[in-house]
Amino acid sequence: MIDGLLSLAERVRVETTNSLDAAAQSAQGQYFTPERAAALIASFPALPRQSLLRVLDPGAGSGMLTAAIVERVCAESSAAAIEVTSVESDPSLLPALRETAQLCEQWGRDHGVSVTVRVTPGDLVLMQTGLGAELGFDYDLVIMNPPYKKLGSASWQRKALEASAWEATNLYSAFLAVGVDSLRPGGQLVAITPRSFANGPYFGQFRRRLLAEVAFDRLHTFESRSTVFADTGVLQENVVFSATRGGHRGSVVITSSRGHTDEVVARTVGYDELVSPADPQRFIRITADKASEEAVRVLEAMPASLAALDLKVSTGKVVDFRARQNLHDVPQPGHLPLVYPGNLRQGEVHWPRRIGKAQAFSLVEESDRKALLPSGYYVLVKRFSAKEERRRIVAAVWDPSRCDGKPVAFENHLNVFHKNGMGLDRELAWGLCLWLNSTVVDRYFRTFSGHTQVNATDLRSLNYPDEPALRRLGRSTGRLPEQDDLDQLVEEMTQVPVTA
Ligand SMILES: C[S@@+](CC[C@H](N)C(=O)[O-])C[C@H]1O[C@@H](n2cnc3c(N)ncnc32)[C@H](O)[C@@H]1O
Repeated sequence: MIDGLLSLAERVRVETTNSLDAAAQSAQGQYFTPERAAALIASFPALPRQSLLRVLDPGAGSGMLTAAIVERVCAESSAAAIEVTSVESDPSLLPALRETAQLCEQWGRDHGVSVTVRVTPGDLVLMQTGLGAELGFDYDLVIMNPPYKKLGSASWQRKALEASAWEATNLYSAFLAVGVDSLRPGGQLVAITPRSFANGPYFGQFRRRLLAEVAFDRLHTFESRSTVFADTGVLQENVVFSATRGGHRGSVVITSSRGHTDEVVARTVGYDELVSPADPQRFIRITADKASEEAVRVLEAMPASLAALDLKVSTGKVVDFRARQNLHDVPQPGHLPLVYPGNLRQGEVHWPRRIGKAQAFSLVEESDRKALLPSGYYVLVKRFSAKEERRRIVAAVWDPSRCDGKPVAFENHLNVFHKNGMGLDRELAWGLCLWLNSTVVDRYFRTFSGHTQVNATDLRSLNYPDEPALRRLGRSTGRLPEQDDLDQLVEEMTQVPVTA
C-alpha cells in the first residue's frame, strides 16, 4: 500500500519528537499532533468552493496540520490551488517543517492541485499584532494546535493583544485571538486546545470576545485525557472545534470519543444549549450525550441561587506555606482543628487523620484568628479531585462535634460553604452535601468544565434546590448513602427523572 501524505508526515513528526530535549519540549509546548488526531482536526472545516484556498498554520511544529489539510483538500475539494502559511518560531524545527512542506507540494503535483507551503520563521504574536513582518490577513482557514503557557499581565504578548481588545491570559488563547483576527469574514478557525477557556473567570473576557466574533459549528471532546497525545506526555483535557468568523449561530454538532481511534458519538444541539442566553458568564457547555443534556435540564429547573439560600462559598483561608508557625502535625491541648482535602472521606471529615499533613492550627498572633471559622457545620468541596476519583465534585460535611465545638481552620485547597462567615445547621449542611455529591450535579459540572479543578466561582454559578427541598434531603440521612441510593433521593427531590 502506498502511504498517504499524513503517514509520510507522521514519520517526520516521530523523528522530530525523538530528537527533542524533553525539558525544552515541555518549556516550549512542542507537542506535535499525532496522525489520527491531525486527520480528525483537518476533517472539521467545511471546504469552501473557491479556486484558491488560503490557510494559516500558526505554530506549525513539524507540519502535521499543514499535511493533514493538504491531504484532505487534494482528496475532497474542488480547489485548484492551496497556499499554506506555516509559521514556526523555533529555528531548530524549520528543517523538519521544510521537509513536510516538500512532501505536501509533491503530493499536490501528484494529485493535480497546486500546493504552496510558505515556511515562515518567526513569532506569530509579534507578526500578527503589527510588531513584526506580518503574514497577511483574510485567510479562508486557520488550523492550529497552539502552544500552552500562562501569560502574566506584564507580558508583551498580553499587552500587544490588549491593543486589539483581546485579553489573552495564556499563549493558546493569544494564538486563538490572532487566528480569529487573521480570518476573512466567513473564514473558519479550527483548533485543538485545552478545554479551560470554556468556563471560569480566568478566560471570561476572552470567551466573551471569541463568542462575539465567531459562531461555533462543531465541537469534539475526548473522554479520556491521555490517549490523544499518548506518545507526547500531554495530560490536558482537549477539545477540537471549528468556528466561523461572523457565522450564523444555528445548530452545533457535538461529538465525543474515548481517544482519537474510537468510534465517534455525535449529536446536534441548538446554539442556546451550547451557550445559554441566560448565562452572564457565557460558559460553553459541551453536552456530549443525552444524560448530560438531561442534567442541564434538571439543573436549569432548580429554583435557587446560592445567594437566595443566603449561603456563600469561599476557599479555605489557610495557605500552609505562609502559616508554618501556626501548623502542628499532632493536635495538642489549646490547638484548633485544621482540615485538608485528605481529611474528606465518604461525605464526612475524618479528623484528626494521618495524611502526612499538619492537623492542628495554633494562634501565634491575634491576626491569626482571621484564618478561622466559628464552630458550626460547614460543607467542603475539594478544589482538585484526584484523577482516579469517580466524581469531579467531592463534598463532605464538617461536624463541629468532632472537636467539642471549637473554631476550625480550613486549608486553601478546599472550597467552604458558609452562612456569611458562620456555620450552617446540620440538616441544611447534609442536604447541600448530598446534592453536591449527586451524579446529576457532577454531569452538569462536566458539561462546562474540563478540569479536575472545582473553583468557588463554578460552585457559585450552579443552581440549587430551594431550602425546604435541601432540608428534606438532609433529614433523610446523616451520612453519605451509596451513589445509587443518593441519586434516587435526589431524583425524588427534584421530581425530574434522571436518565442513565
Ligand atoms: C503544540 S505545538 C504544535 C505543533 C503543530 N501545530 C502540530 O500540531 O504538530 C506548538 C508549536 O508552536 C511553536 N511556537 C511556540 N510559540 C510560538 C510563537 N510565538 N510563534 C510561532 N510558533 C510558536 C512551538 O515551537 C511548537 O512547535
